[in-house]
Amino acid sequence: MDPCRRPSGCEAPSDSPASRLRILLLGASGFVGGGLWTHLAPRHELVGTYATRPAPGPAGLVRLDLRDEHRLAALAADGFDLVVHAAGLVPLEAAEADPALAHRLNVRPVEVLLDAVRGSGTKLLLLSSDNVFDGTRRQYEEADPRSPVNVYGRTKTAAEDLLLAEGGHLIVRIPLVYGRGPWANTFLARLAGPTTVARTDLVCAPVYLPSLGPALARLWHRTGVVHYGGSDVVTRFELMSRVQRALDLPTRVVAARGDEAGTTCRRPPRLVLRSTRHPLLGPDLDSALAHLSGRRI
Ligand SMILES: NC(=O)c1ccc[n+]([C@@H]2O[C@H](COP(=O)([O-])OP(=O)(O)OC[C@H]3O[C@@H](n4cnc5c(N)ncnc54)[C@H](OP(=O)(O)O)[C@@H]3O)[C@@H](O)[C@H]2O)c1
Repeated sequence: MDPCRRPSGCEAPSDSPASRLRILLLGASGFVGGGLWTHLAPRHELVGTYATRPAPGPAGLVRLDLRDEHRLAALAADGFDLVVHAAGLVPLEAAEADPALAHRLNVRPVEVLLDAVRGSGTKLLLLSSDNVFDGTRRQYEEADPRSPVNVYGRTKTAAEDLLLAEGGHLIVRIPLVYGRGPWANTFLARLAGPTTVARTDLVCAPVYLPSLGPALARLWHRTGVVHYGGSDVVTRFELMSRVQRALDLPTRVVAARGDEAGTTCRRPPRLVLRSTRHPLLGPDLDSALAHLSGRRI
């Protein structure tokens, strides 16, 4: 799925056969990592990692615990062109409940990676989050000041700072990702019960998972911070309702505000990522949901 919404401004994809790279994908077993795996594996020499969920089939992921610093450093120093870092503690409530673990999994590994690749020519690509912002602005561009309101956002901000201090690496901030992963299905799992509570007071510009790999491949020659957002701005309730209808899922999507949703974690109310550095935006919801439901590619 092509992420480019303005073809005249798009650069040529940088993962053409002529630019086959050797890539380490940390967190390939995860939801986002699995989506990236699907795009990257046929095009590049790819080594992917898992921690607890070995992916089925031919992926051949290697086991890695980010807390095993010697192993993480040795793997990262193995002559890769690019290390895509999509591993860590992602559920916001889990990070809020255990800030020390969140720091251990989301910040410290970035220090280890930087030490391991320094001077080697290996580039790091850190997947960061729109949760580095407080959600009080209409939209966020790369240079906007960060002020995270939850533990997860603070760990992503700290990890970004490490990369920015070093220079030469890339941070790609992404919003809520939706779609079907090849093995981990974190997003659709939210719609698995008989009822799905979805917030009407959270606004986002979500990105469709299959568009992420092609977008990263167009961006990974850059350094510093880039945003990759989705085209449509919707509430969480609208997103979940539209996915439920598109897939005809047997769940009732129930509208709720934060004070009714039983959440333990503060969330930024409006997160819309926009870029001043490139023209890429994820596909609109109609196209993405048609793709997701198999109605057309
Ligand atoms: N999903 C989103 O909407 C979203 C939005 C913005 C940014 N992001 C960013 O995208 C990245 C991936 O998120 P995701 O949604 O794919 O999360 P996920 O499905 O929870 O995947 C997390 C990945 O990290 C691995 N991992 C967890 N603990 C580990 C440990 N101790 N050692 C080594 N690996 C460990 C997991 O391995 P196992 O599964 O094998 O245990 C899995 O591969 C994260 O950096 C996240 O901040 C995601």
